[in-house]
Amino acid sequence: MPRPRVFIAREIPQEAVEKINSSCLVDTWNSREPPSREALLDGVRDADGVLCSLSERIDSELMDSAPRIRVVSNMAVGYDNVDVPEATRRRIPIGNTPGVLTETTADLAFGLMLACARKIVEGDSVVRAGKWRYWDPLGFLGEDVHGATLGIIGFGKIGVAVAKRARGFGMRIIYYDIARRPDTERELGVEFASLEKLLSESDFVTIHTDLNPKTRHLIGAENLALMKKTSILVNTARGPIVDTSALYEALKRGDIRGAALDVTEPEPLPPTHPILSLDNVVVTPHIASGSRATRTKMAMLAADNLLAGLEGKRLPSCVNPEVYGTG
Ligand code: DGY
Repeated sequence: MPRPRVFIAREIPQEAVEKINSSCLVDTWNSREPPSREALLDGVRDADGVLCSLSERIDSELMDSAPRIRVVSNMAVGYDNVDVPEATRRRIPIGNTPGVLTETTADLAFGLMLACARKIVEGDSVVRAGKWRYWDPLGFLGEDVHGATLGIIGFGKIGVAVAKRARGFGMRIIYYDIARRPDTERELGVEFASLEKLLSESDFVTIHTDLNPKTRHLIGAENLALMKKTSILVNTARGPIVDTSALYEALKRGDIRGAALDVTEPEPLPPTHPILSLDNVVVTPHIASGSRATRTKMAMLAADNLLAGLEGKRLPSCVNPEVYGTG
């Protein structure tokens, strides 16, 4: 049996490359920067499988350019970069990496909330610039996180992991999701709320839903207007869930107190984007899953998905199980 050919579209942790190397002919994109579209299309041309990241668009054009492709393994839990219906139509299983990044992502969401509420980044830059000269009873006043109300939009694994952290801070926790989770509500003392109620009662609103046509610009001018003037928005999910222009206007007018964004639209934000001129905004470069241990776990799960697909086995984590005909 000839070894299957795979294209690994990004530099990923070495353990995962070695695992794939042991049974496949591997072509790896050798740069920390993502491949250009041309390089990606060229890379997949003879491939039986591809391991990609959220930066690569996997659409019908790519699938046409890769006539042998039998599996796409996305090294991310989110898969809005993949045309899943098209892949399903072609019976190509798509793998993703849920679970392994839950706690790491929740850590960053909580960290961003604290950073924005307590002006950690703003304070750091003032000190570095040599502008901090005296302790000021009225200086750098932020918001308390402990005891505040936290609104969680999207109560999947990551939303629940954030709720667990919030309990340690004595927060009141409310959540909105398309499905209720009565057992978790009881276990964590969390309340379900409509989106409107959540937005109008929360001191912190944190987003943990996936990006789909219903959640695109879910947080736009109308919903921002429902938030408290003292509230802070945190987004570690996907940038386009928030309308960046509407958020900028709301922040500038003082309709909400601050925002902490690990993901943005566009991503990256151009350095001249007006939102970056605001002191009450913290922006990080899409690093919520970015611990050494978690990125290795993500890469290993992505390798397992890839290898299973190449062997014709069910992927350990498959976003379109309909390809197996059993749902
Ligand atoms: C994901 O996995 O979807 C994150 O955005 C990157 O870890």
